[in-house]
Amino acid sequence: MAGPRFVQLHHEDSAALREELARGLLDRPASVAPKFLYDALGSRLFEAITELPEYYPTRTERAILDRHAREVAAITGRGRTLVDLGAGNCEKAARLFDAFAPLRYVALDISVEYLRQALTNLQHRHPGIEMVGVGADFSTALVLPPDAGRGERLLFYPGSSIGNFTPADALRFLRQARAAGGPGGALLIGVDLVKDKATLELAYDDPLKVTAAFNLNLLRRLDALLGCDARVDDFDHVALFNEAESRIEMHLQARRPVRLRWPGGERALAAGERIHTENSYKYTPDAFDRLLREAGFARRVHWSDERGWFAVFLAW
Ligand SMILES: C[S@@+](CC[C@H](N)C(=O)[O-])C[C@H]1O[C@@H](n2cnc3c(N)ncnc32)[C@H](O)[C@@H]1O
Repeated sequence: MAGPRFVQLHHEDSAALREELARGLLDRPASVAPKFLYDALGSRLFEAITELPEYYPTRTERAILDRHAREVAAITGRGRTLVDLGAGNCEKAARLFDAFAPLRYVALDISVEYLRQALTNLQHRHPGIEMVGVGADFSTALVLPPDAGRGERLLFYPGSSIGNFTPADALRFLRQARAAGGPGGALLIGVDLVKDKATLELAYDDPLKVTAAFNLNLLRRLDALLGCDARVDDFDHVALFNEAESRIEMHLQARRPVRLRWPGGERALAAGERIHTENSYKYTPDAFDRLLREAGFARRVHWSDERGWFAVFLAW
């Protein structure tokens, strides 16, 4: 049995990434893009988050997909190329294999080493499906490698990762996803829905502090990528629901006055000052349906859970 093929579309140690990090740290307020949360350790911490009782999105989305996969496949047809955007441990896509019988599975992720391991294991379990792993950063542009060709495509974007984009950037990304789907393409996408503040904040600030570790790991990334001397115990994890913007925000808040230094730059933070590390926008089903329509998807259907906490949309 041949193993999966791997294609690397971006290089993590590039000057452009260092420049992006430095620019964010010098911003007011300081910020670091959420894609930097994911190295091999960050991906493992995220996987641990999905096991927490407080983190409802993963299990709610999984239950919706389990319940409706065959209905979705009846609309899209079977035997497509399944393109997983931000595949992580590839487990959500793997649960679709029975219903969708993909010819080929193309998994994209910025966290390349983690993806490599997950995809290699998955290939052993499904030797009959051709698999391609793609190391890619699709935050600025969604580009599929030529290996993603052949057959109609079903793009899969679970985990409510679309919520990491501002609504304007989400619209841009959805337009790119529509183009990347090609003729006859479709998009299956998970969206976290607006709900009470207490449930939302607990999901992003669990008592076991796994999400805190996930967020604080960013300081180690700053060290590894930028040579920045940030210390984990100088910062607290903060997660809050910004109702006006309908988004969870994650921040790293300085416990005391901190001076971050890296080759070519520095940033002083007062005690209590924050580095903004992630947004997670929450939508109503109507608002997300409008966004898909605006992105050019003429047909949309969605499924939700009994509590109306999460929705999975199919758009084509
Ligand atoms: C919220 S996790 C979701 C993982 C998995 N799809 C799931 O639903 O459980 C987001 C995933 O997207 C990947 N990711 C984040 N930013 C990315 C980017 N700019 N380009 C490519 N992958 C990215 C992360 O490494 C991570 O695996």
